[in-house]
Amino acid sequence: MVELKKHPKFEGVYYIQTAEGKQLATENLVPGIRVYGEDLFTVDRIEYRAWSPYRSKLAASIEKGIKEINVKFGMNVLYLGAASGTTPSHVSDIVGVKGKVFCVEFAPRVIRELLEVTSKRMNMVPILGDARTPSSYRHLVEAVDSIYCDVAQPEQAKLLADNAAAFLKKNGKAMIAIKARSVDVTMEPTEVFKNETKVLEDRGLRIIDIKQLEPFEKDHAMIIAELK
Ligand SMILES: C[S@@+](CC[C@H](N)C(=O)[O-])C[C@H]1O[C@@H](n2cnc3c(N)ncnc32)[C@H](O)[C@@H]1O
Repeated sequence: MVELKKHPKFEGVYYIQTAEGKQLATENLVPGIRVYGEDLFTVDRIEYRAWSPYRSKLAASIEKGIKEINVKFGMNVLYLGAASGTTPSHVSDIVGVKGKVFCVEFAPRVIRELLEVTSKRMNMVPILGDARTPSSYRHLVEAVDSIYCDVAQPEQAKLLADNAAAFLKKNGKAMIAIKARSVDVTMEPTEVFKNETKVLEDRGLRIIDIKQLEPFEKDHAMIIAELK
């Protein structure tokens, strides 16, 4: 027996309850197609894809009770560090046919896998580009409601702020997954999170919430901020 419940806070996000337990899910924009081997469930003739917090830091932040994600039906989202499309595909499910996900990725090997995903999802725009230079893909990206940044690189907060200045609408929101070890292996993770938060604040972003992602991801935090 499969039971479906809407997430109490986030539209387009669901919980699927089965005999094995409860798990996050999104409505599959492309029924019958899996992106990364995830389980599919059909309830009232609508198909849903399981969304694991161990595979996606956005799902992990939801499970950790983050206040906001600002990914909703019809929104435009700029996704920095799209990799092979695991989390971007769930963002694509949520924004649906009226929204767009601009997916920036700089590694040619993974972008090949990303193209497999984006070719089946008409709301995803793949961009082979370096998120450190937003001007290089300015002609491909529209104004966006949200930016999601998961590049696991030093200076990721600066890079996010540069993209926010270039593409984020006023009062738009930005999320950043901070991997402490990628910023500074010698520093305590909490110090790294504090420093990255300050970079965002100094660039005009107001912090809405910060959540550490254990037990799903070690030494990671998710920050959501609003462009003032
Ligand atoms: C942790 S993975 C992203 C996983 C993905 N967000 C998900 O949840 O499915 C980080 C990705 O960022 C990419 N990346 C790192 N630096 C980048 C940059 N400057 N510009 C674009 N992509 C970058 C890496 O190649 C890698 O694929």
